[in-house]
Amino acid sequence: MNKKVLVTGGAGYIGSHTCKALAQAGYLPVVLDNLVYGHEWAVKWGPLEKGDTGDTEFVLRVLDKHKPEAVIHFAAFAYVGESVSDPHKYYSNNVGGSLGLLHAMVRSQIDKLIFSSTCATYGIPSGVTISEDQPQNPINPYGSSKLMVEQILRDFDTAYGLQSIALRYFNAAGADPDCEIGEDHDPETHLIPLVLDAAMGRRPNITIFGNDYDTPDGTCVRDYIHVNDLAGAHVSALANLLDGGKTDALNLGTGTGCSVREVIDVARLITGRTIEVSESARRSGDPPFLVAEPGRAQKKLAWKPSRSGLDEIIDTAWAWHQQRFG
Ligand SMILES: NC(=O)c1ccc[n+]([C@@H]2O[C@H](COP(=O)([O-])OP(=O)(O)OC[C@H]3O[C@@H](n4cnc5c(N)ncnc54)[C@H](O)[C@@H]3O)[C@@H](O)[C@H]2O)c1
Repeated sequence: MNKKVLVTGGAGYIGSHTCKALAQAGYLPVVLDNLVYGHEWAVKWGPLEKGDTGDTEFVLRVLDKHKPEAVIHFAAFAYVGESVSDPHKYYSNNVGGSLGLLHAMVRSQIDKLIFSSTCATYGIPSGVTISEDQPQNPINPYGSSKLMVEQILRDFDTAYGLQSIALRYFNAAGADPDCEIGEDHDPETHLIPLVLDAAMGRRPNITIFGNDYDTPDGTCVRDYIHVNDLAGAHVSALANLLDGGKTDALNLGTGTGCSVREVIDVARLITGRTIEVSESARRSGDPPFLVAEPGRAQKKLAWKPSRSGLDEIIDTAWAWHQQRFG
C-alpha cells in the first residue's frame, strides 16, 4: 500500500501541485482543508478531509483514520495587506491553526512535518540575495506569523522530538503543464496572474508600483519559482525526513531575479496580447530585491529547479489561465 502523507491546505495552489507530485512519487496524499480558499476540484490524487487545522480533535480523528507517515503543512492565510489590517485573523489561523495541528501530531506520535514558510520572514534584506543565515525581521503580521511557527517547530523538536523542515518559498508561479490544476486565488494579488488577467481583458491594465527603485529597470525584482519545482522540493524534503533527516529551514528559490517589467514583456510575447500598464507610486514595505541564495536546499535535498525560466512559468500559467478563465 502507498505511504500516506497528510497535506493540510492541499486544496490550494501549491498544495494541490504537491499532491500531484506526491502521487507521482508513489505516495497517497490525504488532504485536510477547510476550503475557505481552496477548491474541491483541485483535490484529485487522494481523499479530502474537510475541516480546520485548529480543531485538534478533528485532526486527531483524521490522523487516527489514515495513519500518515508525515504531514506537509500548507494551510494558512497569505494576504500580506490583510494581515496588517486584521492581524488577529492571521495569528489566529496561521499560529493558532498550526498549534492545533502540532498538538494532534504529538498526541498521535507523528513526528515529521514540512512547513510552508516564506521569504517574508526576512523582512527588508540588507543585500541583493538572501541566505538562510540572514536575520529574520518580518515587517508584517503575515511574515511574523510564519516566523513564530518556525520558532514553535524548533521548540517542538527540543521538547517532543518532532523533526521538521521549514521551506521558505520565494514567489511561487506557473501551473501544472498538463493543465489539471493551476493558480486560482480570490482575491488574486500575485503579479503573474494579474498580468495575464490584463492580457485577457479581465482587468483594464496592470499597475507597476514604483519605477524608480535602484534596480536595472527601476522596477522591483523578485525570484519566481515554478510551482512544480516547489512541489518537487517538498517530495525531496519528505524523503529526507523519512530517511532520518533533522530539523532545518531552507530557502526555495532559483537565485535569479526578474523585474516587474521583464514579467510584463515576457507575458506580451507569450500571449501575443496587448497589456496596458499604469505606473504608480511605490508601495510601502516592498523591498527592491527579494532573491534567494538557493544553494543550501539544492545541496541538502539533491534537488534543482528545472522549470523556473520565466518563459516556462508564464507559458504554463497562460495555458491554465485561458482554460480556467477564458
Ligand atoms: N503562493 C506563494 O507565492 C507563497 C509564497 C510563500 C509562502 N507561501 C505559503 O504557502 C502556503 C500555500 O500557499 P498557496 O498560495 O497555495 O495558498 P492557497 O490559499 O492557495 O492555499 C492555502 C489552503 O489552505 C486552506 N486553509 C487555510 N487555513 C486553513 C485551516 N485553518 N485549516 C484548513 N485549511 C486551511 C485554504 O482553504 C487553502 O486551500 C501558505 O502557507 C502560504 O503562506 C506561499
